[in-house]
Amino acid sequence: MREILVINGPNLNLLGRRSPEIYGSETLEELNKRLEDYAEKNGIRLKTFQSNSEAEIIDTIQQAENVSGIIINPGAYTHYSIAIRDAIEAVSIPVIEVHLSNIFAREDFRRHSVIASVCKGQITGLGGLSYFLALEYFLQSGGDDGL
Ligand code: DQA
Repeated sequence: MREILVINGPNLNLLGRRSPEIYGSETLEELNKRLEDYAEKNGIRLKTFQSNSEAEIIDTIQQAENVSGIIINPGAYTHYSIAIRDAIEAVSIPVIEVHLSNIFAREDFRRHSVIASVCKGQITGLGGLSYFLALEYFLQSGGDDGL
């Protein structure tokens, strides 16, 4: 069975009570459960991982040999972690960057992603649906769309 890995970065463990006007009221546990159910219905196994530590996120990307795709919300690391960017570039796994909020409609420092250029694509601003649309990409393309 194909496996997709969902990585959530710093502070996303606080979903549900962290700025709900920006990130919504759903907890990370609830979102992960919905994603797992959707993946299972479509014959894919979903692994989920959250960490506030840059090193743990890098280790998880490096060790993801058998997964066919990664969906990552790097949180604030999006905007400055060259180390996470390099880890994504180093593995030959298609990665989609997702964000709950629209990073282009917020503070200036959020407008730039150092991660996006090594990803297949970026989905931003659609709340939990950002993750579902990334999953849909892997379901429909198998991560191998020739792009
Ligand atoms: C975020 C956007 C980031 O700028 C912020 O630091 C986050 C969450 C999002 O999902 O909207 O932690 O990645």
